[in-house]
Formats: sequence, C-alpha cells, structure tokens
Amino acid sequence: MTETKFAEVDHWIARHLLPADPQLEAVLKANQVAGLPAIDVSPLLGSFLALMCRLVHARHVLEVGTLGGYSAIQMARALADGGRLVTLEADPRHAEVARANFARADVTKRVDLRVGKALDLLPGLVDEGHAFDLAFIDADKENNAAYADWAATLVRPGGLVIVDNVVREGRILDEEDQSPQLVGTRSLYAAMRMDRRFEPTVLQTVGVKGWDGIMIARRI
Ligand code: SAH
Ligand code: DHB
Ligand code: MG
Repeated sequence: MTETKFAEVDHWIARHLLPADPQLEAVLKANQVAGLPAIDVSPLLGSFLALMCRLVHARHVLEVGTLGGYSAIQMARALADGGRLVTLEADPRHAEVARANFARADVTKRVDLRVGKALDLLPGLVDEGHAFDLAFIDADKENNAAYADWAATLVRPGGLVIVDNVVREGRILDEEDQSPQLVGTRSLYAAMRMDRRFEPTVLQTVGVKGWDGIMIARRI
C-alpha cells in the first residue's frame, strides 16, 4: 500500500514538475523494445543527476554502467560547452541500444561510449589523464568499492562521486543477505568511511524504483 503510494507520488511529481520529454520517452521505449532490463534511474533521479552536473559546471563526466543511455543522456545534456561524458558498458547489446539512443537524443558528439568491463577500462582512463568533474557509478554492485577507489583517482578535487542503489529496500542491514551485491554495497560504506579523499553522505529515496538511495561524495 505505502509502496504503491510512493510510486504514485513519484509519478505525480514527475508529471507536475518535469517538462515533457519525447526524446527520453523514446529512449525508454527503445530499451523496452530491445528487451533491456528496466533498471534505468527514475525520471526524478535523472533530473537530479543533470542538476548535479550543472552545479559543478561539469565538462567531464564519467559513468560506470550505461544500459540504454537514459542517465547518460540527461548528464550529457547538462554538460558545459564542449563537454564530454565517458560511459562504460560491459554488455555489447546494451551498448548498441545506447548508441542508437544517443543518436536519437542528439548527444552522440558529447558521449564517448566504451564497451568492456569497467575494471578493465578504468586504468586506461587514468593513462589518458582524465580529470572528471563528476562520476556516476551504477553498474555491478560487487565492485562498488573498487569503482569508488578509481573515482578517487579520476575525479578532480571538489568534484562529485554519486553511487546508485546503496539502500536496496533496506537489505544493507540484513546480515543474512550475503549476496555479492549486498556484500559489495557494504564494502562501499566501509571504504568510504575510511577514505580521507572523500566527504560522503547518503540520501534515501522512495518512488517508482522502490526504496533505495544514492551515495554522494565530494572529492576532497
Ligand atoms: N545508468 C543506467 C543504468 C545502468 S544499469 C541508467 O540509469 O540509464 C547497470 C549497467 O551496468 C547494465 O547495463 C550492465 O550491463 C552494466 N554492467 C554490469 N557490470 C558491468 C561491468 N563490470 N562493467 C561495465 N558495465 C557493467
Ligand atoms: C538493479 C540495478 C540497478 O542499477 C538499479 O538501479 C536497480 C536494479 C539490479 O541489478 O537489479
Ligand atoms: Mg542503478
């Protein structure tokens, strides 16, 4: 009952606050047609990510976990002039759908989509000398602590690291749940707590994606 209400309120807020966005609707439709899992960020979280990009005047953004490009498009649109978003995706089928969606949303020139496992691709980004203003981590939760560590290297001081899905219906505190995803999420908390390179916090969220949360950390 309450969960239904959270989802309804989320829909209501999106309808009453966000402008209609035929491009993003077409992206979600294309994802559905291609059989991608519907695990994109919610419309309101997408607008939040865009807002964060604008707040840090982002010209260089890193995303780990592209899926169909729904979150990437919203961040790409919010980049400062000449900006570029690097997004990493392990599944070539997802990447193919994302590529078509980037063209559909007219952001191809602002997006650098790389296909491969993020842990294989991240060292190359360090070698290329990137300094990102913001990193959004939203891929395999098992590796979240490792991704945060790479983000500490790749994000400039004053930049932001945002990690999706850090609450998972409260399963983080259910010690009986030792699934790799939950173990990975708990390791992220442990790593962030110790890491003097970050000032982290978490926002719990409810809505169309259930009860979850995002970690937001400033690179010190
Ligand atoms: N950020 C997207 C949703 C990402 S879903 C959006 O909001 O639109 C998570 C994605 O991470 C999936 O497409 C999955 O294939 C990808 N993924 C999983 N493991 C990965 C890995 N090791 N490296 C890169 N991508 C990975
Ligand atoms: C899953 C992954 C996500 O990134 C998300 O936002 C929701 C669900 C999943 O793997 O189930
Ligand atoms: Mg997610």
